[in-house]
Amino acid sequence: MNHIKHVAIIMDGNGRWGIKHKKSRNSGHKEGLKTVEKIIKVSIQNKIKYLSLYAFSTENWKRPKKEINFLFNLLENFLLNKISEFNKKNIKLKIIGKKRFSNKINTLLNNSEKKTFKNKRLQINLALNYGSKSELIHSFNKINRNKQKINEKNISKYLFTQNIPDPDLLIRTGNTHRLSNFLLWQLAYSEIFFEKKLWPDFNENDYNKILKKFKKIKRNYGNI
Ligand code: FPP
Repeated sequence: MNHIKHVAIIMDGNGRWGIKHKKSRNSGHKEGLKTVEKIIKVSIQNKIKYLSLYAFSTENWKRPKKEINFLFNLLENFLLNKISEFNKKNIKLKIIGKKRFSNKINTLLNNSEKKTFKNKRLQINLALNYGSKSELIHSFNKINRNKQKINEKNISKYLFTQNIPDPDLLIRTGNTHRLSNFLLWQLAYSEIFFEKKLWPDFNENDYNKILKKFKKIKRNYGNI
């Protein structure tokens, strides 16, 4: 049986869910937040140590301003309401991505990370303004500036995910089969599960089923 330390998720399909049910993409984002809470709960039940959630990519800035503002308001309220619960539940929050937001959001993110820094049960890596290619370029530049060798250890050392084990599995909801610039280096040997359901429809049972399937996979890492 495979042990699961790290699950990464591309939470796709909010917009489509919103259009289908309530006629606005933003209502899908609001509903998607409920799934985030369900997935955190199940991750703790399964003793998973790291949960990486792709919430906003470097490419998502192309979206209409109204949708971007809605997403960041949602994030703001989520963090303001949840940080004390995170502390009670021993959950650590880490932001992966470049923190280039308004002063208000940057401060909130920094404070949320600081307040939960010592927690140990589950670490949530929230990917915000995250892009894997720019993360890799940043790492290569750091190696270059420090006149170090380009090798796996050094590349990993300068990624946002430094000291975090690579994901064991990646789940992408929303019936789309691509990685969308998420953790390209870190996912090199992860098992990938594409899920037809849109993110707001994805539930505890769906998640548990995938975890169960993953546990039974024979992982060879190039061996036989
Ligand atoms: C992708 O669906 C989803 C996002 C870009 C945002 C993810 C945000 C949430 C799940 C809610 C907010 C989370 C936090 C932690 C505050 P999409 O909009 O690309 O869907 P589509 O493919 O149907 O257009």
